[in-house]
Amino acid sequence: MANRRAVVTGASSGIGAATVRALRSSGWDVIGVARREDRLSALAAETGASAIACDLTNPEAVDALIAELEKSGPVHALVQVAGGARGTDRVEDASIDDWQWMFDANVLATQRLVAGLLPSLRRAAAADGHADTLFVTSTAAQTAYAGGAGYNAAKAAEAMLVRVLRQELNGEPIRVVEVAPGMVHTEEFTLNRLGGDAVAAEAVYSGVEAPLLADDVADVIRYALESPGHVNLDLITMRPVAQSAQHLLARGPLRVRSID
Ligand SMILES: NC(=O)c1ccc[n+]([C@@H]2O[C@H](COP(=O)([O-])OP(=O)(O)OC[C@H]3O[C@@H](n4cnc5c(N)ncnc54)[C@H](OP(=O)(O)O)[C@@H]3O)[C@@H](O)[C@H]2O)c1
Repeated sequence: MANRRAVVTGASSGIGAATVRALRSSGWDVIGVARREDRLSALAAETGASAIACDLTNPEAVDALIAELEKSGPVHALVQVAGGARGTDRVEDASIDDWQWMFDANVLATQRLVAGLLPSLRRAAAADGHADTLFVTSTAAQTAYAGGAGYNAAKAAEAMLVRVLRQELNGEPIRVVEVAPGMVHTEEFTLNRLGGDAVAAEAVYSGVEAPLLADDVADVIRYALESPGHVNLDLITMRPVAQSAQHLLARGPLRVRSID
């Protein structure tokens, strides 16, 4: 995979940071993107990735990011991980600020990145055979749950954007992959969703044997990007074994029911 170059957003924590590590360890050149420069610098020093700080909800900042990427070399893969959830409000009580942020960070940021990077991706595909876009949505894009509406709606909108994009790029050697994880125990996702309440955030994972970890998702992302260029993994839904469905979460040790 020498000389393939990926832009990984959400690189300052969780799934994005794990993806930077995974791709670097497979020999990709990686540019990590997020807002927090200190975390990006530490990851760059650790992995040899490059880093560009950018608030993806700010259109001018995204324009500057795209310009910097254009100057620095080809882009073979866009891995859009940045995003997240804010709040667990009922529909009738929803915080419009939280909903606006979720739509901006998960949906509009994705559109901005696609629009800005498609020219680079096309050049890379023309030169090297194919290019990739990969988006981390969520099982929240597939199943509604009480208290989830703002995030359900934003992730479902992001997922629809991805599915439309795949059709619009039909005929071009550019893959469009969606990875939809269920419960992933990352340091900040639930903490941010619950307004910084660390006790409530830990309770979400309490007793769950082996929730997914960021590295599990990163492995799948790497697999999708490194599969043969004609293979498009349209939608990869992944959950921990303990979470058989969005609402069906086993707490406590996993054990067989009976042994004959
Ligand atoms: N954890 C889960 O259970 C789970 C399950 C399914 C899907 N997902 C999705 O997977 C993705 C990553 O989740 P995670 O668990 O790794 O969460 P996380 O640790 O909170 O990571 C979110 C990342 O997005 C970046 N980000 C947020 N707003 C941004 C902005 N305006 N501009 C640029 N970067 C921004 C953050 O960096 P800065 O704060 O430094 O900007 C951070 O690196 C999200 O899209 C999430 O919706 C998570």
